[in-house]
Amino acid sequence: MDYENITKIYNGYAHLYDFLFSAFFHPRQKAAIADLELPPGSKVLDVGVGTGLTLPLYPNHCEVTGIDISTDMLRQAKKKVDKLKLTHVELMEMDACDIEFNDNTFDYVIATHIITVVPEPFKVIDEMKRVAKPDGKLVIVNHFTSSNPVIARMENFCDPLFRKVGWRTDMSYEEMVETSNLEVYKTDQVTRMDLWKIVHANNNNKVTATNV
Ligand SMILES: C[S@@+](CC[C@H](N)C(=O)[O-])C[C@H]1O[C@@H](n2cnc3c(N)ncnc32)[C@H](O)[C@@H]1O
Repeated sequence: MDYENITKIYNGYAHLYDFLFSAFFHPRQKAAIADLELPPGSKVLDVGVGTGLTLPLYPNHCEVTGIDISTDMLRQAKKKVDKLKLTHVELMEMDACDIEFNDNTFDYVIATHIITVVPEPFKVIDEMKRVAKPDGKLVIVNHFTSSNPVIARMENFCDPLFRKVGWRTDMSYEEMVETSNLEVYKTDQVTRMDLWKIVHANNNNKVTATNV
């Protein structure tokens, strides 16, 4: 998957995204954000904010910035911001592989359902670490290949189909943590069988294997 394709795919179904995915994605986003108990004044970056499903979940005592590469996904997010008067939220079109913020800017950097969408996932995690403050927290909500070999085979089989709708299914949790040197302090799942994980990590500012 390349950038042009990804942008085309998400621009293509931005208007249908909430209808297709909201019920499925929202419980994890809700659990992940509630768990942070975001303190007043927190600076939050939502990477690949999409149509802004997460935006109503952030308390209005935070300063939230949502970035995404798709103009049409952001347009849907902007509708939510306006309708719900989310004056604490700012949206910007930006590439998650090249985040246009200074180092050590955010207290929390959150990426839901994007790490296996981008062609360079470890670059995105490096960027998340860079813009997070040294004592900041990173949250990644994502599908990871099942440790059950039968399910993993099915996921592998379906991978070409999933790529057509904008994500891959061949990344394991272990690969992500090891390659990106993540200092995970907690993982969560909304159900025991869920193939998606909520990963909470401390920003240790260690570079990933891709940058060594
Ligand atoms: C599956 S959607 C997830 C959206 C939202 N985070 C959610 O959980 O509902 C993936 C999003 O990542 C965005 N995206 C893909 N590549 C990106 C990049 N390089 N930089 C920023 N956003 C990107 C897409 O435009 C899309 O909005």
